[in-house]
Amino acid sequence: FTLSKPNSGMLRRRRAALAPPLEESVLSATATMAKLIARPVARLHGRVRAPGDKSISHRALMFGALALGETRVSGLLEGEDVLATVAALRALGAEVEHQGPGLWQVRGFGVGGGREPGNILDLGNSGTAARLLSGILASHPFTSFMTGDASLRGRPMQRVIEPLSHMGARFHGREGGRMPLAIIGTDEMVPIEYRLPVASAQVKSAILLAGLNTAGETTVIEPEATRDHTERMLRHFGAEVRVGPAEGGGKRITVVGWPELRGRDIVVPGDPSSAAFAVVAAAIRPGSDVTVENVGVNPLRAGLYETLREMGADIAFENARDVGGEPVADLHVKGGGLKGVEVPAHRAPSMIDEYPILAMAAACAEGSTHMLGLAELRAKESDRLASVAAGLAANGVRHEMGADTLVVHGTGAAPAGGGVVKAHLDHRIAMSFLVLGLAAREPVAIDDGSPIDTSFPGFAALINGLGGKVGPA
Ligand code: S3P
Repeated sequence: FTLSKPNSGMLRRRRAALAPPLEESVLSATATMAKLIARPVARLHGRVRAPGDKSISHRALMFGALALGETRVSGLLEGEDVLATVAALRALGAEVEHQGPGLWQVRGFGVGGGREPGNILDLGNSGTAARLLSGILASHPFTSFMTGDASLRGRPMQRVIEPLSHMGARFHGREGGRMPLAIIGTDEMVPIEYRLPVASAQVKSAILLAGLNTAGETTVIEPEATRDHTERMLRHFGAEVRVGPAEGGGKRITVVGWPELRGRDIVVPGDPSSAAFAVVAAAIRPGSDVTVENVGVNPLRAGLYETLREMGADIAFENARDVGGEPVADLHVKGGGLKGVEVPAHRAPSMIDEYPILAMAAACAEGSTHMLGLAELRAKESDRLASVAAGLAANGVRHEMGADTLVVHGTGAAPAGGGVVKAHLDHRIAMSFLVLGLAAREPVAIDDGSPIDTSFPGFAALINGLGGKVGPA
């Protein structure tokens, strides 16, 4: 009987068989799971106000930090993602003060004036905080470190590392550029002209923010238009941002380096991506009559509403107005009678966060809804294509998932429901399936509702205020 010394490959395989993957063991040690359930209701009724826009909230704080003087923000979303940005900006030397509900004041350090953070920046679940801050950090002459929760640590950062490296910063990350990430910045960046390989407002914004502390003109070419909050708001703070057509199609966006940004007042409109949950909940319950007030309807964010109308939803944009340089309206929805449609790939950037909730509308519609051009859904807080497909399967909804497509077959009758859906640390998966539970034959549960607080604190109370039944399981 002889014992042979196992080679290192064997050892690795044995250890892998014994120990759970690292991400899983970290999760089970630290996370408190909050199971939630949504029960069927007849109809929804009432008026609610959409919570502040997450994209605009991050930008208001960051740009306020890059400005000199005071920036006062009202209507800020006080979700965990935005609070992660607050903490990071404080670590960089901005004075960020909470003055009342939704009211914040920022005293900035100016373009290039941030100080080296004393510790690792923990950005929680927020991809927007991570990507946009990487542009700011890369253009400062110090080394900083970023990490986040298990979801964020799994998300691709190479998409910002590549252009920011061309400008002169260096990065050390895990395989595929994943976080934790060390950013070795420089204040001697070189301006670039960069064509976005993926339609991403986060990548566009990271480059433009780095361009602020770079001599000369930094240009991003986007083949497909993505949300333009950065361009709109940078101008409001006094930066020179030029937008024009790009050769061969798309947009050319140029920022001129070293502007003197000045503190401004910002009013944050309501978030169309959050409003979507109440709007779809009403649209899938016949007889519902719901108004969601103060919803941002920037055309580069409003693809879901166009799609719902094509499906036959009765949605009126009332009281259209301008709030802080963004178009806003009150959305008045009456429920019932949705039909399946084809959602073209070119619409994806204007509704990229809304496919999970659209899939719920599709599950309640009559006929098939074909959603195309969804590759980016796999790089969100979870692989949203897979998460949605698994949740639909658990609730008896017929569907087909492709590499970048999803087809949902509705029958016009209420879906079966009765499933327990895994949220995968993804707020929009959690909220979408709770909305399905309001319209299914049996209640729908989610394994963990805690991620909802990243973007929509008070979600359950808001839905229940309209007559919904969402609560602890
Ligand atoms: C965001 C852009 C989108 C979106 C995200 C917020 C932003 O991401 O999914 O929730 O604030 O710029 P990508 O730009 O990576 O598509």
